[in-house]
Amino acid sequence: MTMVSAAKNLVRLLVLAQVAAGLLSGSGGGVAALSYDYYGMSCPYTEYIVRGVVADAIMKDPTLSASLLRLHFHDCFVQGCDASVLLDSTDDNTAEKDAQANKSLRGFEVIDAIKAALEERCPGTVSCADILALAARDAVLMARGPYYSVPQGRRDGTRSVAADTLRALPPPFFNATSLISLFATHGFNVQDMVALSGGHTLGIAHCVNFKDRVKNELETLDGTLASKLGATCAAGDSGSAPFDRTSTNFDTVYFKELQARRGLLSSDQTLFESPETKAIVNMFAMNQAYFFYAFQQGMYKMGQIDLKEGDVGEIRANCRVVNS
Ligand code: HEM
Repeated sequence: MTMVSAAKNLVRLLVLAQVAAGLLSGSGGGVAALSYDYYGMSCPYTEYIVRGVVADAIMKDPTLSASLLRLHFHDCFVQGCDASVLLDSTDDNTAEKDAQANKSLRGFEVIDAIKAALEERCPGTVSCADILALAARDAVLMARGPYYSVPQGRRDGTRSVAADTLRALPPPFFNATSLISLFATHGFNVQDMVALSGGHTLGIAHCVNFKDRVKNELETLDGTLASKLGATCAAGDSGSAPFDRTSTNFDTVYFKELQARRGLLSSDQTLFESPETKAIVNMFAMNQAYFFYAFQQGMYKMGQIDLKEGDVGEIRANCRVVNS
């Protein structure tokens, strides 16, 4: 065996080991359908095309990294990772994206641009669900977060119903115990949940989601921040504030803010207040490498929730509408 083929075999073994680890730790069905080389023959430049469009968009507007990460989360937690969050409402159906919890989602036009570029190169090949998973990964990377490999082969769903978001997405007033239970339904452990909440190292929230905390949780909210948020929200629910002071950088500042009682949502601060999760917050605040590692693990699992098996689902031509 030559050195080159030995090296190739080693790489293959490593990839297989990673996939096997995924099979053991994956939460939903359909894990076996995914592969790291899924579009290797049918659309070999998929990852480059996605990264190019994401990079352009984030260069113009760095706040989009947060929005692209959130899109993937809201896709996977409702009906699995099937791009149901991207479908537009129709005359006889209110889609997920028009549910209350999804009103502030952004980044749809970036996904449209990626899809258009891919359709030009290899029509009808790359699913919108895979685009979401790849775009979220690249968004994190571009915000200086960790890089992780994303196996591909997800299929797009045909159902998107606003009411499905109600029990599926965690509300901002959940405490640690409720968050742990909800995430456990998808196979996440406590550390996964805290690491994924670290997604709030990026982005902002609107007053409607934290005004009750400002009113009722003063014992766990830093006084200076309380005054500032009070002023922000005086004008109404549409005011907004960043989750942490470096909201376009993927870092550990979110966890440090929790330690200083400067968490924005109740569901953020509870992670430091609850004995079930406090030690994990402290560890992530102190050790960026460990947070990044745990976040990668969490994202890997999240990208595999309730995947469509076999021929179920489709490859949408336009991410906003089901194929006719
Ligand atoms: C743990 C339970 C979670 C709750 C209760 C929660 C809730 C929220 C809320 C209320 C907002 C603000 C919406 C607004 O006011 O516009 C938000 C924003 C955001 N969430 Fe979460 N979330 C959770 C978990 C996650 C996870 C797991 C991720 C990703 C891994 C994530 C990523 C984001 C990002 C990046 C934003 C900012 C979006 C932007 O600036 O456009 N969240 N979340």
